[in-house]
Amino acid sequence: MDRSAVSIEALQEYAGTTVALQGWLQNKRASKGLYFLVLRDGSGTVQCVVSQKEVDHEVWSVAMEATQESALWLKGTVVPHPRHQGVVELHVTGARLLSLAQGYPITPKAHGVEFLMDRRHLWLRSRRQWAVLRIRNRVIMSIHEFYQERGFVQMDAPILTGSAVEGTSTLFEIDYFGSPAYLTQSGQLHGEAMAMALGKIYTFGPTFRAEKSKTRRHLTEFWMIEPEMAFYDLDMNMDLAEDFIVRIVHDVLRDCETELEALGRKLTPLQSVQKPFPRLSYSEAVDLLQSAKTQDLLQDRIDSMRQEGAALKAEQEQIRKTLGHAKKWKRRRMDARKIEINHRLDEIEEELRNVPQWQASAAAFEWGRDFGGSDETVLTWHFDRPIIIHRYPAAVKAFYMKRDPEDDRLALGMDVLAPEGYGEIIGGGERATDLAFLQRQVDAHGLPREAFEWYFDLRRYGSVPHAGFGLGLERTVSWVCGLDHIRETIPFPRMLGRVYP
Ligand code: 4AD
Ligand code: MG
Repeated sequence: MDRSAVSIEALQEYAGTTVALQGWLQNKRASKGLYFLVLRDGSGTVQCVVSQKEVDHEVWSVAMEATQESALWLKGTVVPHPRHQGVVELHVTGARLLSLAQGYPITPKAHGVEFLMDRRHLWLRSRRQWAVLRIRNRVIMSIHEFYQERGFVQMDAPILTGSAVEGTSTLFEIDYFGSPAYLTQSGQLHGEAMAMALGKIYTFGPTFRAEKSKTRRHLTEFWMIEPEMAFYDLDMNMDLAEDFIVRIVHDVLRDCETELEALGRKLTPLQSVQKPFPRLSYSEAVDLLQSAKTQDLLQDRIDSMRQEGAALKAEQEQIRKTLGHAKKWKRRRMDARKIEINHRLDEIEEELRNVPQWQASAAAFEWGRDFGGSDETVLTWHFDRPIIIHRYPAAVKAFYMKRDPEDDRLALGMDVLAPEGYGEIIGGGERATDLAFLQRQVDAHGLPREAFEWYFDLRRYGSVPHAGFGLGLERTVSWVCGLDHIRETIPFPRMLGRVYP
């Protein structure tokens, strides 16, 4: 260990000086008398140049022997990168091989997702994963800053609970000294008790759902942020959710330029995340879904996918023809492009399979049903920013929702749907305050009254209007990063059929 080693992230500040670095070899390239070592240390990556002419034999042999993911100590001068402005590189003068890695399984070539998921403990070292997890960290910091600045108190809800919050079908049951208990689905009910004690609180904890479906939006263990506020109504709740999301996106755009670039994230959709978000009642959203406008939008989508697919196939053919006689460095770039094209073609193919079905189900959507993932996707395509849908049919929402005084069929719930097809990232609403109503709701949902006696107390002793919501951290990170699956947004995802590693 070298305590004087500097972190790669801060390397710019050392331009012109000699420093030591310690980290792992991400990539290595050789060229007459030179080695280009890409070193990563967790904070960033830097190209380190070893020149045979300028170093002694020992240093040169470290460069020669080092394999991918070997641990290295390097010393050298920090100089401007010859081609990339604002980037520095290290001209190596000293090197030590700290630990030789042999046969690292994840190579720069493309691997299948299952292969990578089985090696998630190593996959975390890849540049894309690094970027996603750094953005996750930035989002977490924003969340705390946002609420702390507004006088909210962070409180922890229990993880082991005696009752369901969000329906009984996704409960993980455990044996709690001979009695059943459950892993919490949401901290909300305890959050309400804490809000009655501290006014404005937020929880930030793991939540669990025994989701039996394999989708790109579902984990069985995920992190939820749940603000709960006394003396808040539905409108105030929506205002808060809007400010909250604007803040998160703003901070990521400001602080995570490198990470977003590493992910190839399009910035325009994030830059358009500005107030106000369109707010639609459930009924308005249903009208929109059934409209000719939706049919046209989906038809346009199909047409543009077909066009893009045809263009990509032409490019693929062009690459196939020229690849054989291209120079080596060009070939590497073409190979990378080939992988990109194949990936995009798969996406297009999947969408061309899906969209016609979505077209049919949008047209046939009936008032009263809950929106499915694809309905949400279609709705978001109409807008350039997140949308808020409020006043859902009470029948599709949880037992604790307050009814709309204007229309008893409706609950004062709201969901925030992220744009670009991502769909629900927030669910919440105004809570029922009336004891007798809540008791009837608990019965109607087939829940045991005894388990909720403590919750009923909140309505017996100083019941006040209150509201809150839950933001799914991983779904939010997935959208902000522009990922096509939620599994990469958490270090060790838990999903149907996966608890390893
Ligand atoms: O909409 P949900 O079920 O709402 C609640 O749990 C409320 N009790 C929250 C509250 O009002 N305090 O879940 C909230 C959010 C969803 O919008 C979604 O972002 C996320 O949690 N979520 C999931 N994320 C990943 N995997 C799953 N299986 C998820 N289920 C919900
Ligand atoms: Mg929900």
